[in-house]
Amino acid sequence: MDRPNRPAALASTPGQPESQVQTTSSDTRVSATLPTGDSVEVLLYGATVTSWKTPARENLFVSSAAILDGSKPVRGGIPLVFPVFGPAPAGSKLPQHGFARNVKWEFLGKSTSEGESSVKLDFGLSWATLPEDWRTKWEHKFGLVYSVTLAPGSLSTALVVSNEGDEAFEFQSLLHTYLSVDDIQNVQIAGLDNSPYIDKVPSATAKTQSGLIAFSGETDRVYSPPTPPSDPVTVQEGGKTRFRVVRDNLPDVVVWNPWVEKAAGMGDFEPKDGWKNMVCVEAGSVSAWTKLEKGDVFEGAQTIYAE
Ligand code: BG6
Repeated sequence: MDRPNRPAALASTPGQPESQVQTTSSDTRVSATLPTGDSVEVLLYGATVTSWKTPARENLFVSSAAILDGSKPVRGGIPLVFPVFGPAPAGSKLPQHGFARNVKWEFLGKSTSEGESSVKLDFGLSWATLPEDWRTKWEHKFGLVYSVTLAPGSLSTALVVSNEGDEAFEFQSLLHTYLSVDDIQNVQIAGLDNSPYIDKVPSATAKTQSGLIAFSGETDRVYSPPTPPSDPVTVQEGGKTRFRVVRDNLPDVVVWNPWVEKAAGMGDFEPKDGWKNMVCVEAGSVSAWTKLEKGDVFEGAQTIYAE
């Protein structure tokens, strides 16, 4: 509708915070900044969130040697794991953690809340747009929409998977979030007390968590808590809450830190002692396969609050 009397956009006063959401997009990335100064950046390769800042700090760890040109998944941020978690089952041609983090996604657009207090960025990937070499590795017709919502003090990421083919398929999915911490040896994770988990170090063993999780060596665990996903998993540092992670329809939580030797063995992990400054708390659906019938849709999401 033509509105000749529409008020002109307010000019910003130098030195004053912007009153509107600022977004920029290019061939390789999309970023958004709220009037509060909170910001997010998403690389189209893998629809990987590579930065989430609240006014005081960067909340995600990204390796300084991370490869951002799409030739390798990004070491840090929030890579998306789909349709397999970890090594693919025997007979599958998929690489570790699937293909969603290895391919370029399409930016579908942004929407802002009333008053411009939050912004949602949508990204899409489908079988039809998947490069041919990947289609031969996973032949199911799927559609993915990934929404990244930035609000003051929080980031939500939601994955919608739809089955657009004629046959059911099974998948796993996970939001592989690398949270930034000052010193992993001061970090504790709450909210998983009494949760059964598979300890992958040194080899898959079923255990039950007792109390808080603390870190003193390589840690690679898949928790399947009996509590609802809406119960927060909390990352504390020096006894103070740093992050709260609330899940929706993602029953599992992977907790990962590579520690000294694994970090040394990863060519794209820098600085080499960067393991001290990260903890992965990964919301997912990975302990079982999700079966999606023809025409069905699955949605899983997380919201991370920075304290
Ligand atoms: C975690 C897995 O989710 O991802 C670990 O539990 C794995 O086993 C880690 O080492 C990193 O995987 P990648 O493929 O990004 O090196």
